[in-house]
Amino acid sequence: MAKRLRVGLLTGGGDAPGLNAVIRSVTKSLILRHDAEVIGFEDGFLGLITQRIRQLSYEDVSGILTRGGTILGTNNKANPFKFYKRGGADVSAQVIAYARSLGLDGLIAVGGDGTMSISNRLHEMGLPIVGVPKTIDNDLMATERTFGFDTAVSIVTEALDRLHTTAQSHQRVMIVETMGRYAGWIALHAGVAGGADLILIPEFEVDLDEVVRVVKNRESFGRSFTIIVIAEGTRLQGGALSVERTLDDSPDPIRLGGIGRVLQVELESRIKSEVRTTILGHVQRGGTPTPYDRILATSFGSYAADLVSRGEYGRMVALQSGRMTSVPLAEVADRVRLVPVESSTVQAALAVGTSFGVPELTVRFDPSQAAEA
Ligand code: F6P
Repeated sequence: MAKRLRVGLLTGGGDAPGLNAVIRSVTKSLILRHDAEVIGFEDGFLGLITQRIRQLSYEDVSGILTRGGTILGTNNKANPFKFYKRGGADVSAQVIAYARSLGLDGLIAVGGDGTMSISNRLHEMGLPIVGVPKTIDNDLMATERTFGFDTAVSIVTEALDRLHTTAQSHQRVMIVETMGRYAGWIALHAGVAGGADLILIPEFEVDLDEVVRVVKNRESFGRSFTIIVIAEGTRLQGGALSVERTLDDSPDPIRLGGIGRVLQVELESRIKSEVRTTILGHVQRGGTPTPYDRILATSFGSYAADLVSRGEYGRMVALQSGRMTSVPLAEVADRVRLVPVESSTVQAALAVGTSFGVPELTVRFDPSQAAEA
């Protein structure tokens, strides 16, 4: 009798809505279509290093599609090549030996750029791995979407809708700081969906004079409130990144945050209107995934299961031109996908008069002229 396929599964890095939908999809499709056994590792690579596993049955993953977080747990510090609990030691060889001792045919690693980089190195050392792209930041190479992003954009958009009404009532400038690390995808998409007046993202260095000009220009046309979305990785011209904390035991030690308040202080000294800042933080990663993320996570999960069943390792599942495909992990590892200026979303925002805080990119508009025309 042929040996049953035995597949490991872990969720690594920061959590994102849709992780449970992937766990469900991978497990159900491996059991139903490939009669496989699924072994879950607890807390991402930490479970692989510290040998904590849990068998996943069909029943274990029933009813979790809509649930936020991950039933397996996750960890964004555990790197087998630099393990923080053992003084930064390289424990990758032990990890591979452990995976082999479990009789695993392959491992599915769900995560962001850190997880894909680790997976690529482990694959190069002989561990058969398939990656599934997760992150609210949407900054992974070779896939036009990661799951979690759509939910984060919905949450920020709802916040913008709510802040609009209070900004209008009090005639205030409202700054909303989003996550996204070094990429501005969340701020860009939510800013467009929520009709922000200014969208400030890391890809474009912000000219403060331009921000002030936009706010004052709106005031001069009787629009005495302004909504500004700013991504956490944005820099004001001549300024530095806003680092909220540094975690020495993390492979990616910098945690960004606080640029909204920096902007607030700068604006308060230059304009008359009151300025308030809302930092949305981890609320962007919590709660139930949107229908889009549930569908994407389910599609990614079953596609990953198919790759494993065909023995196609060293690849990450990806969405390209709206279709499921896969790309070599090496194409994704150690790279970040940033917003290009020619992005159709950037161009659409510019077309409706949104400013990116960059004078050369701003379409100047005088509503009184338009009314007369
Ligand atoms: O990568 C996802 C993300 O939420 C980023 O947007 C953010 O910068 C970072 O993780 C926050 O990390 P932590 O959960 O460690 O505070």
